Amino acid sequence: MSSNAHITGWGMAVPEKVLTNQELEMMVDTNDEWIRSRTGIEERRIASDDETTASLATEAAINALRVAKLPPSQVDLIIVATSTPEYLFPATACLVQDRIGATTAGAFDLLAACSGFIYALNMAAETIRGGSNKNALVIGSETLSRVVDWTDRGTCILFGDGAGAFVLQASDEPGGIRSSVMRSDGSGGDLLWIPGGGSAEPATNQTVDDSHHFIRMNGREVFRFATRVMARSSEEAIKKAGMEVEDIDLIIPHQANLRIIDAAARGLKLPMERFAVNVQKYGNTSTASIPIAAVEAIEEGRINPGDNLVLVGFGAGLTWGALVATWTGPFAELKPIRMRRYRRLARVRSFLLRWARRLGAIFFGRRGDSA
Ligand code: UT7
Repeated sequence: MSSNAHITGWGMAVPEKVLTNQELEMMVDTNDEWIRSRTGIEERRIASDDETTASLATEAAINALRVAKLPPSQVDLIIVATSTPEYLFPATACLVQDRIGATTAGAFDLLAACSGFIYALNMAAETIRGGSNKNALVIGSETLSRVVDWTDRGTCILFGDGAGAFVLQASDEPGGIRSSVMRSDGSGGDLLWIPGGGSAEPATNQTVDDSHHFIRMNGREVFRFATRVMARSSEEAIKKAGMEVEDIDLIIPHQANLRIIDAAARGLKLPMERFAVNVQKYGNTSTASIPIAAVEAIEEGRINPGDNLVLVGFGAGLTWGALVATWTGPFAELKPIRMRRYRRLARVRSFLLRWARRLGAIFFGRRGDSA
């Protein structure tokens, strides 16, 4: 009998620093009224100098493991969906693996822009259903403030930083991730992109002078694309799960723009009350926006075990996707775990491994070279 992939843990982490629309008015030619009426955004969070995509991802992961009562040593797979990885390589997921002490986990990053969390959940669920993994950690984490052009009013008002994470676990019980849809259209790649810093345009003084390391976006075209695909892909995922739109208790959409969510609601003929919306507080946090909205909906008591959810998103690529999940919550029989202790152990373990490697290089390095 094949297992189902249940969502048993969730967590989020956002920077403390809040950037309001009023503060943006002092930075670029914009105003609170325009931002609120065109996007629904009121404020967003901005990472401090010592916060990064990996540090936010680690916090969210720890919170999710605490909810699931799952020790890091039992995590088989970590996927970090991100458009702002810590480095080109190693993967941010490997940094998280080290920091939480997930000693037997595989770890990789997934780049599907704002649809990344849906893609990553689907990939993790497939490995659980296929039997190769029992427990997976799926994280969406971003520090978009580091790739935003703070002189471009067309983009800088939209984005924010944050991270969200889900734990997926195998169980023969019915429920969990029920269906998914993943789509792409690379012909729209230049509608939303960062031209510099990759292999096409490696970093040079010129690329930096030309601001090629910042987000560039054709907002109107992305808007038109988003309003086309949100309702359609939700319907497709619902149909694949053998359900009707009326069976869905809550839709958790990518939080990019309130008007896009409103268009999705009209497309699905559902009232806005059936949607989780917190774009006003965090702006667009890309891969993190869906798990952050889910965590806040849980905290508000809007998601309960047995509820049917649709997660739906779109983003650069172009990519889009949706999935249907029946909510589970933590497996009941497990005891609470002390994540702080696991974290401390992970730090010691990482330190010892680094030193063992250094000492190994001193004592055996030459012999290794000549081998
Ligand atoms: O995760 C995916 C990420 N991207 C998105 O989701 C973006 C999708 N697109 C959007 O959300 C919207 O297109 C925006 C919010 C970016 C823009 O809203 P819009 O209603 O499509 O505005 P627009 O681009 O058509 O611009 C209307 C006017 C323009 O002035 P003119 O040409 O009509 O004189 C812009 O220059 O608003 C101006 N404008 C602004 N005014 C004040 C553009 N940005 C601003 C601004 N403040 N920040």
